[in-house]
Amino acid sequence: MDQDMAKRRAGEEAARYLEDGMTIGLGTGSTTAYALAAIGKKIREDGLQIRGIPTSSSAEIIARNHGIPICTFDDVSEKLDIAFDGADEVSPKLDLIKGRGAAHTREKLIASQSKRFLVLVDPSKLVSQLGKKASVPIEILPVAAPVILRTLCAMEVHASLRIGVQKDGPVVTDQGFWIVDAAFPSISNPGQLSRTLLEMPGVLEHGLFVNLVTDVIVGTESGVDIIRR
Ligand code: A5P
Repeated sequence: MDQDMAKRRAGEEAARYLEDGMTIGLGTGSTTAYALAAIGKKIREDGLQIRGIPTSSSAEIIARNHGIPICTFDDVSEKLDIAFDGADEVSPKLDLIKGRGAAHTREKLIASQSKRFLVLVDPSKLVSQLGKKASVPIEILPVAAPVILRTLCAMEVHASLRIGVQKDGPVVTDQGFWIVDAAFPSISNPGQLSRTLLEMPGVLEHGLFVNLVTDVIVGTESGVDIIRR
C-alpha cells in the first residue's frame, strides 16, 4: 500500500472532527501536515471560528500558510477541545513513541491539555510493543549530554546524540535543547520507563506518550480505521 496515500487519508480525516468555536492542538510531521491543510480548507469553506496552538515552529508555519488562526496557552482558560498529531509507533494499548521531528515536548504538553487526543497514522506505525522499530527521543539540556549518554550506556541502552542534516553538529530543538535517541531493546512497561527517564537530571522530556491517546485514525487502502480507547 502507498504509505503517503495512507498518511493523507488519516490526516484529512481530522477535518471531520471540527466544530465551530473549537480551540485545537496542531501537531507536527508529514501526516499532520495533511490534517492542517484539510483544517485550513474547512475553516475557509465553512466559515468556522477555530483557533489552534501549534506543537512546533514547523506546525506554526504550516498552519499559518493554511490560514489557521494561531493562539497560545495565554489565550485559553480551559482545556483544548481536541489535539491532532502523528506518531512514530502506536502500541496495542495506544501508548506512543513520538519525536522523530524533535517536537515531542510541546506535543506532549498540548496532548495533556486537550480533552481529546487524536493520533493520525499509516499502518506501518502499529507495533506489537513500543521500541520495536523506533528509538525513544529524549530532549536534554546540552550541558548534561555526556552524563545522560553515560547513564544510558550503563543501562545497556544504545543511545546517541541526534546530529543535524544540512546543519553541522547536534539538532537544536525549538526550546534550544538537544536530542538523544535511545534504542531500548524492549519496552514492556512504558509508564515505568517514562518515570525512570524523567528522574534523570538534565532531561526536559521524552517521546513516550502513556495514557494520553483517546483515538487513533489509521489510513488504509479503502479509507480509515478508527481505534478508540
Ligand atoms: C514530531 O516530533 C513527531 O512526533 C511526529 O508527529 C511523528 O514523528 C510522526 O511524523 P510523521 O507523520 O511524519 O510520520
